[in-house]
Amino acid sequence: MKILVTGGAGYIGSIVTEELIQQGDEVIVFDNLYYGHRAAVHPQAAFIEGQLSDRAAVKAVFDAHNIEAVMHFASYTLVGESMEQPFMYIGDNVTNGLNLLQEAVAHSARRFILSSTANLFDDPERMPIDEQERIVPGSPYGESKNILERMLYWLDRVYGFRYAALRYFNAAGASPSGERGEDHDPETHLIPLTLQVALGQRERLTIFGDDYPTQDGTCVRDYIHVTDLAQAHILALRALDEGSRTYNLGNGQGFSVKEVIGTCREVTGRPILAEIGPRRSGDPATLIASSEKIRRELGWKPKYPDLRTIIEHAWEWHRTHPHGYGD
Ligand code: UFG
Repeated sequence: MKILVTGGAGYIGSIVTEELIQQGDEVIVFDNLYYGHRAAVHPQAAFIEGQLSDRAAVKAVFDAHNIEAVMHFASYTLVGESMEQPFMYIGDNVTNGLNLLQEAVAHSARRFILSSTANLFDDPERMPIDEQERIVPGSPYGESKNILERMLYWLDRVYGFRYAALRYFNAAGASPSGERGEDHDPETHLIPLTLQVALGQRERLTIFGDDYPTQDGTCVRDYIHVTDLAQAHILALRALDEGSRTYNLGNGQGFSVKEVIGTCREVTGRPILAEIGPRRSGDPATLIASSEKIRRELGWKPKYPDLRTIIEHAWEWHRTHPHGYGD
């Protein structure tokens, strides 16, 4: 299939691109390189540097290539930042998505995969969180993804546009090839920050609060290996002709911040200094996904469900790429 991957120079998009190419698909990456890295793009993918806010540029991509499917990763993704800059999220994330969707519909590219988020579930009634859970976005970021999910729902109703909305919990790890991993600037995610302390690039890690109603008082999250996430995209894409779908994507198991740091210490064999700090605003105590639906419907099964393996792959990436992609 000929697939347009927006944000294909970013962490998850670049690893999905790698998997698609390994499976024989043709990939066109569209990325503005604000956060992505040119070196992260698989050499067999075509690369276009551009802005989704530039509708003419988006149209030109569809005009030039016979795109059959779109995977939309390009997005602002930080919950905390969205609380400070809501227009960037409810504005740019939504209008960029709208440009992309309008051109996809106009060019009859009617298969679409959306990177959605666990931030749709700020106040879950049940844990683990399944697709029946009511949507309560936790931030303008979560709301922007909710709006995109709702647009997709209506495009399916009106145009028969087929989509999958994949709500990621905590993506982690690196490609087992060792070639692609996390390189954010600024870095805000727990595992890469902890491994930067192990590498001596940071003195210490701050644990954001230890007074949550969890076993050890620190927040519990569901860490999913980025390659398993990538496989879920590919399975969802292949199933789209049978209908649109929405899945929550995690391992179904939660680990506390302290457990993650403990496993990082074991994997790296290094003492990792961590101190308790205040809570970070907007962090729910516990987020664990039920991924029963995608397991049942598509036979998805994570290949790397162990936190230790996830951290081993992340460590291999950070150890061998201490400065990420080096740009
Ligand atoms: N944490 C720390 N110290 C740090 C960094 C993180 O204690 O220096 C804690 C956080 O408070 C949180 C956990 O580690 O409890 C995980 O934090 P991350 O920043 O790694 O990930 P989040 O769970 O905040 O965010 C992830 C994705 C978002 C997505 C969100 C959905 O990165 O894009 O899940 O809830 F929106």
